[in-house]
Amino acid sequence: MMNEKNKKQVKIVLAGAGGYGVHYVEHLLARRQDDIQLVAIADPIAQKSPVWQKIRHVPCYSDLATCLDQIHADAVIIASPIQYHAAQVTAALAHGAQVLCEKPLCATLDQGEKIVRLSEQTGLHVAVGFQWSFHPVILAAKNDVMNGLYGTPETFKTIVHWPRSLAYYQRNSWAGRLKDSAGLPVYDSVISNATSHYLHNMLFFLGQTLDEAAMPDQIEGRLWRGQPIENYDTAFVKMKKNISGHKPAEMIMIASHLAEKERPPRIEMKFSEGRLYIEGARLTGERFGKLAGGASEVIDYGLTQGGEDVAHKTDALIRAVRKNEKPVCHARTACPHLHVIDWLQRHCQIDQVPQSKLCVKDADGSKWYSMKGLDQLIDHLADTCQLPDGF
Ligand SMILES: NC(=O)c1ccc[n+]([C@@H]2O[C@H](COP(=O)([O-])OP(=O)(O)OC[C@H]3O[C@@H](n4cnc5c(N)ncnc54)[C@H](O)[C@@H]3O)[C@@H](O)[C@H]2O)c1
Repeated sequence: MMNEKNKKQVKIVLAGAGGYGVHYVEHLLARRQDDIQLVAIADPIAQKSPVWQKIRHVPCYSDLATCLDQIHADAVIIASPIQYHAAQVTAALAHGAQVLCEKPLCATLDQGEKIVRLSEQTGLHVAVGFQWSFHPVILAAKNDVMNGLYGTPETFKTIVHWPRSLAYYQRNSWAGRLKDSAGLPVYDSVISNATSHYLHNMLFFLGQTLDEAAMPDQIEGRLWRGQPIENYDTAFVKMKKNISGHKPAEMIMIASHLAEKERPPRIEMKFSEGRLYIEGARLTGERFGKLAGGASEVIDYGLTQGGEDVAHKTDALIRAVRKNEKPVCHARTACPHLHVIDWLQRHCQIDQVPQSKLCVKDADGSKWYSMKGLDQLIDHLADTCQLPDGF
C-alpha cells in the first residue's frame, strides 16, 4: 500500500549538467513531474551544457554544498568530474539526501572507504552508476550464477580494443590526469573510467550476494602509456579470487586506447559447468552437456544495452528515497573496482611505449595514436591468459 512517503514527489538535485549529466537532464525532465522534480542544478559552467535551454528555469549553483544549504533535496545525482565525487557525496549525505554517484565512486580507495562508513553511519544509500549492475539482464544471469547453474567460477576474460583520439583527452581538463590543476586526485585511466563497467562487472559476478562484488586476493598488472597524457592508456591486469575448496578463479582484463582497430568488447566468464558470454551486446549462457544426448543448454538473457541505463539507476535512487531500499550497486559494491585501480597505481610503474612502436594518424580533426602490432599481441595474451614481458 502507498503511504505518504511512497507517494511524495522526490526532489532531486543534479551535480554536473553537461557531459554524461545530459542523459540525466533529459531523463529527469521526461519523467512524470508529479513523481520527481529537478529542484536545482549544481555546475559551475551549467550554461555550457548542450541542454542549458531546457534547464535555464531551474535554480543553478556553482557549488553543490551551497546549493544543498539553500534547497531541500531528497536525492542527489552526481555526474561531475571524478575529483569532486568524494566531497560531493559527503556533502549530500551531510544534508540527509540519498545519493546516486556516477562511476567510478571516487578517485581513491581511501575516499571510497570513508564514503562506505558515512553511508553506514547516516543510514543513507549511495548508489554507484555502474549501469550493468542495475540491468535486469545482468541481474538475472547473476542470480543464476549464485544459484549454482553454471558451477564454480574458473576463468573470466574481458578484452577491450577502444582507440581514442587526443580530442577525447582534450574534452575536459581532467581526462588522463593523475591529479587536477588544484592537486585533487583524479587517477583517470582506461580502466578507472572508460572501461570501468567491464572490470567492475567481472568482480560483481564473483560476489556472493546480489549486491556484492568480490575483492580480488591477488593482482598483477602492466600499465603502458603511448599517448601524451599523465596516466596510462593501456592496462593488462590479472587477478585471482580464492574460492573455498576449489582452484582460485582467474580474471584477466586487457583494455587499450592505443588499439589499432575498434572492436566490440570480448567478454567471457567460464565456470566448471558452463559459461556466460556477451556478443553483439547480447548476454548468453551455455550450460555444458545439460540436455539429452549431452548437448549444451543455451540461455538467452537478452540485450545488455538499450538506452534505459539512466532510468534503471534513477529508479533505484527513487526506491532508496521512497522505500529506503538499498541499491543493488552501492558504495561497498564499488570498492573492489577502486581497490584494483588503487593497487595498480601504487604498485605498477607506467611504461612508456617506444616511439618506434607508435603510429600517429590525423583524422576527424584530431590525432590518433596507436601501437603497431598491439591488436595481435592482445589477442595472444587473451588466449594464453598472460601479461606482456615487454614491448
Ligand atoms: N555511466 C556511464 O556510462 C558514464 C559515461 C560517461 C561518463 N560517466 C561519468 O560521469 C562523470 C562525468 O564525466 P563527464 O565525461 O561527463 O565529465 P565532464 O568533464 O564532461 O563534466 C560533466 C559536467 O560536470 C560539470 N562540473 C565540473 N565541475 C563541477 C563541479 N565542481 N560540480 C558540479 N559539476 C561540475 C561540468 O561543467 C560538466 O557540465 C564521471 O564520473 C564519468 O566517469 C559515466
